[in-house]
Amino acid sequence: MSAPKISAPRGTFDVLGPEARQRAELERAATEILQGAGYERIETPCFEATELFARGVGESTDIVSKEMYTFKDGSDRSLTLRPEGTAPVCRAYVEHGMQKRPQPVKLWYLGSFFRYERAQKGRYRQFWQVGAEALGSDDPALDAESIVLLRELLLRMGAKDLRLRLASLGGAETRASYRELLQAHLRANEESLSEDVRARIELNPLRAFDSQHPGTLAAMKQAPLLLDHLDVQDRDHFAQVKSLLDAVNVPYQVDPTLVRGLDYYERTVFEFTSDALGAQSGVGGGGRYDGLVAQLGGPQTPGIGWAAGVERILLAGGQEPPQPRSLDVYICVADSDRGDGERSTPSGGAWAGLRSGVRERAFMLLGALRSVGLRVEMEQAGRSLKGQLTQADRRGARYAAIFDGEGSALRDLRGGGQRELDHDALLQELQTLLSADA
Ligand code: HAM
Repeated sequence: MSAPKISAPRGTFDVLGPEARQRAELERAATEILQGAGYERIETPCFEATELFARGVGESTDIVSKEMYTFKDGSDRSLTLRPEGTAPVCRAYVEHGMQKRPQPVKLWYLGSFFRYERAQKGRYRQFWQVGAEALGSDDPALDAESIVLLRELLLRMGAKDLRLRLASLGGAETRASYRELLQAHLRANEESLSEDVRARIELNPLRAFDSQHPGTLAAMKQAPLLLDHLDVQDRDHFAQVKSLLDAVNVPYQVDPTLVRGLDYYERTVFEFTSDALGAQSGVGGGGRYDGLVAQLGGPQTPGIGWAAGVERILLAGGQEPPQPRSLDVYICVADSDRGDGERSTPSGGAWAGLRSGVRERAFMLLGALRSVGLRVEMEQAGRSLKGQLTQADRRGARYAAIFDGEGSALRDLRGGGQRELDHDALLQELQTLLSADA
C-alpha cells in the first residue's frame, strides 16, 4: 500500500517554472525602477515579535484581530509570521539607527507574507508583496514619487484597467476629532447599520465605509467626510500631492471613502485597483505613516510607502509567461555498441560499457563550456542516443556534442550535419560558432 499523499495547505501554492519566470521578470522590473529612484533593498525576518504588529498595525484591525499566524517558540515568546512589511521596516530603521543617515532613507522589499484570510482567487494565506518605504521626510514630493513609482511598476508589468483612488486622512488630531463625529453619526443611525458595523462603532468606526450592507450604505451616504475636516496644513499637503500628480499627468480619483485596513495611516492614502481582477480588485496601496516609527519606540519620523501583491500584479497583467531560454549545447554520451532505442541506467549498465574516460571528457567539456558563459546540459537520465537527441531538441539546443566509445562529434541541430572533432577542437569550434550566432 502506498503512503497517503500530502497537499500544500489551503490558501498556499507552489511556484512552478513558468510562474517563476514571470516573478523573476517582476523582480527585475522592481529592482530597476526602485534602484533608479534611490531605494535600497532590505530583507527582514519572516517572523517578528507579535508586539510589533499589535502595536504597529493596530489591535482593532482585521489583520491583527483575526488574520495573524501567531505561535509561541521554545522559549515561550510570542512570535508572528509577518502579515505586512511596513512595521518590520520601521523596526529595522530604529534598530539600525537609520535616523542618523541622510534622510529620507528609501528601502524596498520583495518577500512572502502571511494572513489567515478566506482563500480565493487573488487572496491567499501566503502571498508575496513588493513594497517600498521612504522614511524621514514629509515632503509631498515623496508622496507623489511613491505613487508614480508604483504606477510605473504596474504599467511595466502590463496591469490593465488601472484606477488610482486617493485621499487624505489628516493628522492624528484631525482623525481623533473626526472619529467622534463619525461615531455620533453612526449611533444616530444605529438601527439601519449591519450588525458587524454596529459592533465596531467604538473600536473601528471608519470601517463602516467598507461595508456593502444596503442599510449601512444608505446611512454612510449622509456621513461626515474626513476630507471636509482637514486642518490647513493637511489640506495644503494634500493639495501639493495632487498638484505634483497633475504635473506628470497621473490620473486619480479623490475618494473620501477610501479606508485602508491598517491603523498607522495619516495624511495621504492611496490604492490602485484593476478591473481585470474581479472581487479582489486592490492590486497595491499605501500611504503616509508619520507616527509609526515613534509608536515603535524610535524618534518622531515621518514615512510613506506602499505594497502591491505579486500574484495580483501578475493576474492584472494577464501576460503569458516568458519562454525559458533555450540551450546552446546538449552533450550526449552514448555507448556506440548499443542498439538505438535501448535504455541504460546512468549508474551502471550501458555506461559501464563506455571506454574509460569518455564520460569524464564529456563532463570536462560541460564545465569548460559553462565557464565561458554558454548554456549547456549533459545527458543525465540514461537515454539511448536517439532519446538524447530528442531531449536536446526539446530543450531547444542549438548544437549537440556527442561522445561515444569511438570519439566525439559536433552535430548542428538546426542546420543539420555532423563532424568528428576531438575534445579541444569541440570546445573551440562551439565557442566560435556560438559567438558568430550571437
Ligand atoms: P495592504 O493593502 O494590506 O497594505 O496590502 C498591500 C497589497 O498586498 C494589496 O493591495 C494586495 O495586492 C496584496 N495582498 C494583501 N493581502 C493579500 C492576500 N491575502 N493575498 C494576496 N494578496 C494580498 C499593506 O500591507 C501595507 N503594508 C502597505 C504599505 C506599505 N503602506 C505603507 N507602506
